[in-house]
Formats: sequence, structure tokens, C-alpha cells
Amino acid sequence: NRPKLVVIGSLNMDIVVETSAYPQVGETITGQRVRFIPGGKGANQAVAGARLGADTVMIGAVGDDAFGEELLGSLQRDGVNITGVKRVEGTASGIASIYVAEGDNSIVVVPGANGLVEPADIDRCEEKLKEADLVLLQLEIPVETVLYAARKAKSLGKLVVLNPAPAQQLPEELFGLVDYFTPNRTELSGYAGMSADGDSLEHAIRRMMELGAAHVVTTLGASGSAYLDEEGQLVRIAGYSMPVVDTTGAGDCYNAALAVALASGRTLRDAVDYASMASALAVTKFGAQTGMPTKEEVVRFAEEQGK
Ligand code: RIB
Ligand code: NA
Repeated sequence: NRPKLVVIGSLNMDIVVETSAYPQVGETITGQRVRFIPGGKGANQAVAGARLGADTVMIGAVGDDAFGEELLGSLQRDGVNITGVKRVEGTASGIASIYVAEGDNSIVVVPGANGLVEPADIDRCEEKLKEADLVLLQLEIPVETVLYAARKAKSLGKLVVLNPAPAQQLPEELFGLVDYFTPNRTELSGYAGMSADGDSLEHAIRRMMELGAAHVVTTLGASGSAYLDEEGQLVRIAGYSMPVVDTTGAGDCYNAALAVALASGRTLRDAVDYASMASALAVTKFGAQTGMPTKEEVVRFAEEQGK
């Protein structure tokens, strides 16, 4: 039987502009290409969850513009239940303006409707929350709503995964509601208030656990991931190196895959390895949502890796 996920978070239209250089302040330059691709950390994680075989419900908001329609359509095409996504009149859908230049990218996110997701929107989906195995959260909607959702999910006895991105100040209560806290190294260092490099990685993870997170899974880019096991030992799980086409949404794929595996009752070690494989496949394709792998693709990749 299929694991059941509820993803609560953002939907953005990613406006991806390819240029050969970044413009200087006051300068106008000509770029090479623009593409409009459905994104937003919440929606990316929902699409990835659905492709990886979970029954997935999305809670969030879009505006009453054409982008909103496209964002909803993208979720529906992948079988995500969108009854929890409201349409807010007189408001723009969220966008992410992404400049891709010199093999790097820089992003400006304008939240729009995402900034209007409120506790009442969570309450309206109470039945879906009750049916869920796991609730997956990020930080592109108001923090008060994230906190409310985490409280509610916990009180219903659900597993809670928080991908704390983009990094920001969090109320301490939130950490204690989280079963799996999944920062990258930079985010971990910010939340723990200390370096997360070298030997400090373990200390930083411990610090987050002292703050209340039951488990901390840190992604380390090319170096894979790390977490502390039940005995308090640092476990490192290697990543898979793949030809990179586009890393946008790779972190979202990782989180969704981790969530699907945990919701299926797999061990943390297995779930982390599964997430590493799925996100390795995600970087080989262009676009956040468009690049998410299916369950079958991950299974095939695992076989190729001798798993
Ligand atoms: O995590 C990637 C996402 O972050 C992009 O799709 C963009 O919308 C930004 O919110
Ligand atoms: Na991708």
C-alpha cells in the first residue's frame, strides 16, 4: 500500500533566465533564453513525492493569475491532490526569478500568495492530515503557519519532516515538534550557531538535537549526507556523482524521497540512501519539477549501483 504524504508549502513559477554574465548595477545586458518552469519548494516536493509513489496532498496557495493555473496544472498532471491549494483573488502567484550565468545561479523569490497561507488553511485539511503517514514542511510560507501545522501534525501522531529552507529565524518550539530536521551544511551552521565543517559537523547536529529535533539529517552536497544514529555515532552516507544539468530542486527531491521512504517504514539509513539516489537523478535533468525522477527510475538506478 502506498505511503500517504501531506506537503505544506510554496508554489512558485520559476522564471529561469540564461545569460552569459550577471548584470552590474545599472547595466542592461541581453540574455540567451528564458523558460517558465513550475517550482516552489513545496510544489517540487509534492511532485517528487507523487512520482516516487506516494499518495500526495498539497496544502498551499496560488494567486488568481495565469501562473496560478499553470502551477495547479503541473501538480495535477503528476497526480497530486490539490484540494488544499487555495486561489487568492487579487494576489499574484509566487515567482522565483532565477538568473543562470557562469555555471551558477542567483534567485529572487517573491512569495505573493504563498505569504497568505494561514492556520485556517491547515484546519480545512484536517481529514487529509488524519489520513497521512507523514507531513513534509519547508519555509517558503509564513513561519507561524509552519509552526501551527507542525503542532497539529504532532498532535495527530504524524511524522513531521522539516526542510528548514530558506534559512531563517525559527521559534524554538518548532524544533521540538520535528522528527526529521534536514538542513544543508550552511543552514545547519546557521541554526546551530556554530561551524558545521569538519569535526564541528557532529557538534552542530548535536546542538540541533538539544534544541529538540528528534533526528537531524544533513545534506553535504558532493560529500553525501550525515546523521547521528541511536548510539550517537555519526553516520555518513556517500552521495552518487552524476553529470549535472540543473541542480534546482535537487534538495526538494532529496526531502521528498526521504519522506516517502520513512513513510513506508524504511530505516533511516535506507531512507537516506534512497534520497541520495533520487536527488542524484534529479540533477541530470533540467527544471525543478520537470526533473524529478519516478520510483521506477530510482529502482533501476539502485540496481545499476548494485543495490
Ligand atoms: O528549491 C528550489 C526552489 O526554490 C525553486 O523551484 C524556486 O521556486 C525556489 O523557491
Ligand atoms: Na533538475
